[in-house]
Amino acid sequence: EKGGYDHFMMKEIHEQPKGLYETLMRRLNDDNTIKLDGITMTKADIESFNKVYIVACGTAYHAGLVGKAAIEKMARIPVEVDIASEFRYRDPFVDDKTLFIAISQSGETLDTLAALREAKRKGARILSVVNVVGSSVARESDDVFYTWAGPEIAVASTKAYTTQLMCMYLIALYMGHTKGVIDQDYYNRFIEELKQIPDKLEELLKKEKDVEAIAKKYCRKEQVFFIGRGVDSGVSYEGSLKLKEISYINSFAIAAGELKHGTIALIEEGTLVFALATQDFLFEKMLSNIQEIKARGANVVGIAKEGNREIEKQSSEVIYIPSCMDEVTPLLSVVPLQLFAYYVAKFRGCNIDKPKNLAKSVTVE
Ligand code: F6R
Repeated sequence: EKGGYDHFMMKEIHEQPKGLYETLMRRLNDDNTIKLDGITMTKADIESFNKVYIVACGTAYHAGLVGKAAIEKMARIPVEVDIASEFRYRDPFVDDKTLFIAISQSGETLDTLAALREAKRKGARILSVVNVVGSSVARESDDVFYTWAGPEIAVASTKAYTTQLMCMYLIALYMGHTKGVIDQDYYNRFIEELKQIPDKLEELLKKEKDVEAIAKKYCRKEQVFFIGRGVDSGVSYEGSLKLKEISYINSFAIAAGELKHGTIALIEEGTLVFALATQDFLFEKMLSNIQEIKARGANVVGIAKEGNREIEKQSSEVIYIPSCMDEVTPLLSVVPLQLFAYYVAKFRGCNIDKPKNLAKSVTVE
């Protein structure tokens, strides 16, 4: 049942190209327009929204951070991302001009469901991104964008996250296109880019052994940092969560530009830092952040797009992801972080698929 892999987590990491392909292709018509297939949200609805709330927990919340960037860029509408357990208790500004997007793999997370009900009570339109068909979140939403990840068994979420990202890109494109704020050329380029992602991910997965070697080298570290800017900061949070939940290493993610406002005090000789530098327009800024931490003796593992070799001067190791548009790098850059967490947990003898203290679906507060 683990398809030849030692753990469900590894099987599920390898199922990502297929999950992404399915999630994309089931929503695309032959002419590259987005297939609505049950989605009832009209052009008038989309034009009536003056704000979007994306609400979720854990990994799904991290997918929301990337979703915010995509929707703000493509649909030019303010987006707030919130943790469900915070949103539901703070009387947020929600009315009938609000689009509320819940993201949930299981569709049964209690806080997410409660936040959804609260938003609905206040008149918001409810769109959800869910993996489990017929789950509570799906049933209580006006519209559902399903992720086609297939069942996710490992507690640490992998393929649910990347397929959630795919849905967020499609939602952003659909809203932007419907509102007429993105031009046809950009739209077409973006869809072509998304179509290439499954193959690029297969390419990237061939670097598994390189990541394993990096994990072997650093698996005894007791503290790991993840830094990045823009969408790379969202992916940093996800990489950090993966590592802490399955390897029990104290890890911390922070927007790279925020480091010098306090956290850099923790960087010392031998501190391990993953520096995500996949954004072309932020590359130089990241290089100077890396230089700052390098100067304090950190071991830096850089993650950059193929070709951006300047990062090698500042890093102990570099993992290159296939080149692609800046917007879609999270679909690729998260994968080496998933693999790193997996191998570190393995070298430390942890129970990878069922980490201590964690349940797959959190249906209590
Ligand atoms: C982390 C993880 C959790 C879930 C979170 C939300 O790997 O799996 O952080 O993402 O509990 O669960 P769903 O998506 O089912 O609402």
